[in-house]
Amino acid sequence: MRVLVIGGGGREHALAWKINQSPMVGGVFCIPGNGGIAEIAQCLRIDQSNSNALADFAVEKSIGLTVIGPEAPLVAGVADAFAKRGLKVFGPNRKAAQLEGSKIFAKYIMNKYGIPTARAELFADYNEAASYLESVDAPYVVKADGLAAGKGVFIAKSLEEAKDAIRGCLVEGKFGSAGQRVIIEEYLDGPELSVLAFSDGKNVLPMVPAQDYKRAYDNDAGLNTGGMGSYSPVPIVDPALYDEIVEMVLRPTINGLASEGIEYRGIIYAGLMLTKSGPKVLEFNARFGDPETQAILPRLESDILEPMLAVADGDLSGVELKWKSDVCTTVVLASGGYPGDYATGFEIAGLEEAASIDGVTIFHAGTRGSNGKIVTSGGRVLNVSALGEDFSQARERAYAVIGKVHFENMHFRKDIALRAASR
Ligand code: AMP
Ligand code: GLY
Repeated sequence: MRVLVIGGGGREHALAWKINQSPMVGGVFCIPGNGGIAEIAQCLRIDQSNSNALADFAVEKSIGLTVIGPEAPLVAGVADAFAKRGLKVFGPNRKAAQLEGSKIFAKYIMNKYGIPTARAELFADYNEAASYLESVDAPYVVKADGLAAGKGVFIAKSLEEAKDAIRGCLVEGKFGSAGQRVIIEEYLDGPELSVLAFSDGKNVLPMVPAQDYKRAYDNDAGLNTGGMGSYSPVPIVDPALYDEIVEMVLRPTINGLASEGIEYRGIIYAGLMLTKSGPKVLEFNARFGDPETQAILPRLESDILEPMLAVADGDLSGVELKWKSDVCTTVVLASGGYPGDYATGFEIAGLEEAASIDGVTIFHAGTRGSNGKIVTSGGRVLNVSALGEDFSQARERAYAVIGKVHFENMHFRKDIALRAASR
């Protein structure tokens, strides 16, 4: 079977890599892909939100399954267009993807079906939002309703900052229609956790837990990024807590959506805060996490095509996932300046030598091929994923590899999985 992956980041490289290992697969295509994906898949450019052009391509190339990586094409309804044309697709349809595409919709579902989350109020008017902010205490949490490429969440320490955030959304229109409504929610404290599961709309098949690092610098200093590293499993989560999250969060969300007439088929990803009063949902994503996927998939023993096809066909019952006992650590190598301005086009040296280290896979994110060389083309450039018997070994391997790779202004965190290693 031929498989098409839509997207071009580290997550999609990990997906294409894992899919390519399936004995069922006889060729992978990727739109648009990147410099690393191009080594295992045929990459080409088609607008990711042009459902018809994508579906035409899938027909022309006899694609047996299309896997949609990023949120934008999901929210734009690419899965609906594929389903309408009888093409097999992995990823929720437009209505189901609202779980990520609208924070207000997600709150509505969580409140209606008793899923633990931060208390929140919804506003479309600046003055009403501002006077509400005056009635609550810092820190303030303001979120644009719609997709904002990870930039729509504000944790403000002062009232002024919080008002700037709502002004940006509601008055200045910084996020366009995605910021026409905002939610202001209760601030939650505790360690964060990402839980991802396959769902066919009825059944939930959880993957192993992962943790990601959102801040740019060591010890969680600096700005929020798309993610600077990740690891799996998460030692602070014991099996009882994990079961509780599956039973109290994932299952009731899928069942709640089903009672609303929404069949959720794809990955459901809950971003959680483990508060003193139990796990609470910060957000849902309708897709694999980036860079969590790069730490989860190297641990997956099973053929990933099996659950993917089962989800696409609407029946996951009977599918099981087998995991390696090895842990995995993923370190992101970023362009200097990221998440702010950065330069690209720098040659990446040492990739071949680095690839020879045991237990390590290098997933490309912002790279492209240029005259037989690999050069940087984005903020997050490479993801070094290292398996190990424990986190000390995984960290040692990952950082040994990083010592061999180089590009101009390369920047990375040195503390990925450090706490997990010292437990
Ligand atoms: P989100 O995109 O909703 O996951 O938010 C991005 C990041 O903002 C999260 O990973 C948290 O670190 C932080 N965050 C979001 N909501 C809250 C909240 N209610 N309380 C504290 N931190 C939050
Ligand atoms: N790692 C966070 C995300 O994928 O949204």
